[in-house]
Amino acid sequence: MSYENIIVEVKDNVGLITLNRPQALNALCAALITDIGGALDQFENDDNIRAIVITGSERAFAAGADIKEMADYDYMDVYKNDFITKGWTRVASCRKPVIAAVAGFALGGGCEMAMMCDIILAADTAKFGQPEITIGTIPGAGGTQRLTRAVGKSKAMEMCLTGRMMDAEEAERSGLVARVVPADSLLDEALKLAGKIASFSAPVSMKVKESVSKSYEMTLTEGLMFERREFHSTFALDDRAEGMKAFAEKRKPDFKHR
Ligand code: CAA
Repeated sequence: MSYENIIVEVKDNVGLITLNRPQALNALCAALITDIGGALDQFENDDNIRAIVITGSERAFAAGADIKEMADYDYMDVYKNDFITKGWTRVASCRKPVIAAVAGFALGGGCEMAMMCDIILAADTAKFGQPEITIGTIPGAGGTQRLTRAVGKSKAMEMCLTGRMMDAEEAERSGLVARVVPADSLLDEALKLAGKIASFSAPVSMKVKESVSKSYEMTLTEGLMFERREFHSTFALDDRAEGMKAFAEKRKPDFKHR
């Protein structure tokens, strides 16, 4: 498939999506969101791909939804089309683990897109923010919800009410990102991390993702029950038997992803 606004590559067992609208700091226009959906469909249908990385440029992961594109929308345009839900939720609904490798600006929808991913790896140049208030609107793709769960109410309120940006160091300290790495090694580190995940059993990593994600939506009791059932279900997998046998035999497991 060919894409206009992204570059799609496969690196061993990792699918890589590079947002590529440099003239607009990777602002997330509708066509770009459609491209991401297409690439994720492609990766999810490919059994050889077991982890995905989404990245941007040195200057910007993404500077938000495309303000120029939405400037003339009226209420009925956005309400009727459930604007910002369509297409965007494809990232959050991806079943394979997705890493956001963020350098430069991750603002508005860019920050929200990164937060839809499972792990955020930040370059030391990364800047996160929800500046929608400065253009007379509010976050519409999870900013008030996912940011609050990640960094707590007070900091999320401050960021959403002032539009202030958070640098990489503060983002790591606040729990928004997993790790900060030097900008020039961001992609290598992200691919290394994705490669590590891809080296394990695909159904098991999908179960990990599903279980951790459920912790956002369930009570502790429900979540613990969900986790236990998923744990039990791994005993139906060849890879679980192989993993434990390999441990006992002091050798590397040979996972078949089933
Ligand atoms: N939409 C459309 N175009 C954008 C854009 C966006 N979100 N962000 C940047 N651009 C464009 C600029 O208009 C500019 O284009 P031109 O050269 O044609 O004028 C180009 O990208 C480069 O940007 P700047 O010249 O502004 O670069 P800068 O280094 O001076 O500033 C910036 C960088 C601070 C990120 C600034 O561009 C900016 O504030 N961008 C908007 C950030 C923002 O408000 N994002 C939230 C959008 S709303 C949203 O995302 C809603 C939601 O919840 C989904």
